[in-house]
Amino acid sequence: MREENRSFGSALRGYQEGWIFELLAPVYRRFFFSIDLFIRFCFPSEFSGSLLDVGGGDGSVLAEILKRHTPKKTILVDPTPNAGSLILDTNVVKYVGLYLQEIDEIKNEKFDVILLVDVLHHIKPRDRKELVTLTLSMLSTNGKLLIKEVGPKGIKSKLTYWADVYISKDPVVAFLSEYDLRVLINEINQEVQVKGNLLYNKKDFPNYCFEVSFQNDK
Ligand SMILES: C[S@@+](CC[C@H](N)C(=O)[O-])C[C@H]1O[C@@H](n2cnc3c(N)ncnc32)[C@H](O)[C@@H]1O
Repeated sequence: MREENRSFGSALRGYQEGWIFELLAPVYRRFFFSIDLFIRFCFPSEFSGSLLDVGGGDGSVLAEILKRHTPKKTILVDPTPNAGSLILDTNVVKYVGLYLQEIDEIKNEKFDVILLVDVLHHIKPRDRKELVTLTLSMLSTNGKLLIKEVGPKGIKSKLTYWADVYISKDPVVAFLSEYDLRVLINEINQEVQVKGNLLYNKKDFPNYCFEVSFQNDK
């Protein structure tokens, strides 16, 4: 079973490297995904809790969060060798070259916010459940799991898919619709609360973000 996980791991370990990624990443952030909008949606007020960025890549989202907020503890995890290269803050703990599932020492820690930004669509469907289950188990009582994804509809979605498959050479990319993601979360735990944000969706389509928590403020 463990070997099976490692095989999906090795397919992704080299992802997000090289000059093509360096070239495409700013284009994606400029025209396809507004990090600013995402942060304003996810952190509407001052945040000073603990933060885990799973699949943080070069750290572009985390770097922007750290410009505006001061978490008491921040950890970035990513299997790519150059992960977290944009994070110069030495208070941030980086687990580079490792999947979250491989890092036993933090699996029992709890976090107030856990980020999964554009991670699930780079993972085989059968492995998504394992990762979301693990991240949910690492949430503090009032914690939030923020899952940002790209929906499968629209021209921006098609272009992103094309770039992921043919330029970044990601072998497993497959976008999830909001419905797919709700089904996945529901299969894992029917007690959690899942919130979407229509304002965020409308402005930054086809990107969307779910806030998953154990709070019940209905
Ligand atoms: C498209 S990148 C997103 C990077 C970053 N979150 C951002 O938005 O700029 C997806 C990242 O997820 C990482 N990843 C995939 N599976 C992971 C896992 N199980 N644990 C940690 N990182 C993972 C990949 O290595 C890749 O860097």
